[in-house]
Amino acid sequence: PAAPFQQPRRTSTGWPIPDETDSVHRMSSHPLARLLAITLVTVTLSGSALAQSAQVQVLSENGKAKVLYEGPEPGTLIQHFKDDATAFNAKKHEVIDGKGVLNNRISEYVFQHLNEIGVPTHFIRRLNMREQLIREVEIVPLEVVVRNTAAGSLSQRLGIEEGTQLPRSIIEFYYKNDALNDPMVSEEHITAFGWASPQEIDDIMALAIRVNDFLSGLFLGVGIRLVDFKMECGRLWENDLMRIVVADEISPDSCRLWDIKSNEKLDKDRFRRDLGGLLEAYTEVAKRLGILMENERPAGSGPVLVKG
Ligand code: TMP
Repeated sequence: PAAPFQQPRRTSTGWPIPDETDSVHRMSSHPLARLLAITLVTVTLSGSALAQSAQVQVLSENGKAKVLYEGPEPGTLIQHFKDDATAFNAKKHEVIDGKGVLNNRISEYVFQHLNEIGVPTHFIRRLNMREQLIREVEIVPLEVVVRNTAAGSLSQRLGIEEGTQLPRSIIEFYYKNDALNDPMVSEEHITAFGWASPQEIDDIMALAIRVNDFLSGLFLGVGIRLVDFKMECGRLWENDLMRIVVADEISPDSCRLWDIKSNEKLDKDRFRRDLGGLLEAYTEVAKRLGILMENERPAGSGPVLVKG
C-alpha cells in the first residue's frame, strides 16, 4: 500500500527543543521554545540528537517517559523514549534500563502497521534505538481509553471484578491535565470547553475502534489479551486541511496486556503494582511480535528455526 506520508530527508538543521510529550506538542512553535533552541544550539553545535538529549533532558524537568525535539524538517519532531517509568501522576518514579528502547521498537511496530492499514498516525519512521521521526501535530488534550475487559480504574470505580469480559468495547475520555490528575470527562465537557469539536470526537472514536480492532487481533495472534489501552490524537494540518491522527505512543506503558493462558501481566501494571519483572515482560511482548533488538543477531545470519 502507498505510504501515507512522504518521508522527508534528515538534514543537519534539526534543533533540539525540550518538550513534554505528555502535555504539549505545540511548545516547539512557541517563541520561548525557539529562543531556548537557539541557546541550546549555540551550546551544542555538534553531536547527534541522542547525544544532545542528555543536555536537553536536564532542562525538561517535567518530562515523563518521552522527550520531543524539533525535527530535521519543518513540521517534524523527534520523539525520544526515556527509561523513566512513572505512575500515579509521577508520584511513583523509577528508571528502568532499557524500557525506552523496547517501547520505541514496540510503538514503531504498531504505528507502522496502523499506517499500512490506512489508520493515519503521526509516525514517519524510527531513527535509532530511542528515537523516531514524527509529524508535528497539535495534541488534543484527551486521553482516549478503550476497554475490552474490566481492569484498573474501571474495576475500582464500578466494582466490577478485574478480568470480567465487558459486554462491548467501552470508550472513555480523560482530560489531560496533571494538576487535576487527568479527570474523566464526557463528550458534553469536551465540546462545551472546546477541547474537541463534535466532528473531531466522532473521528477520534472511529479511530479508537479501528485501533482497538487492529491491536486486539495483533496481540491475540501472539497469545496476548488486549485488556485495555490509552491513545492520544493530534490535529495534523496539510495545507488548509486538518485531519485527526493517532499520536504519542502505543506500548506496554499505555496498554494492559495479559498472557492468554496464564493471565500474567505483560505491561506497566508490573511497575504500578510492584510486581517486578517489567523489562522481562516488555521483552516478551517484543519477542512475540517478532521484533528483534538492535544488538541481537539480525534474521538470516544465524541458525533458522524451521519448526517451533
Ligand atoms: P486505568 O484503568 O488506570 O484508567 O487505565 C486504563 C488504560 O490507560 C490502561 O491501559 C493504562 C492506560 N493509562 C495510561 O496510558 N496513562 C495513564 O496515565 C493512565 C492512568 C492509564
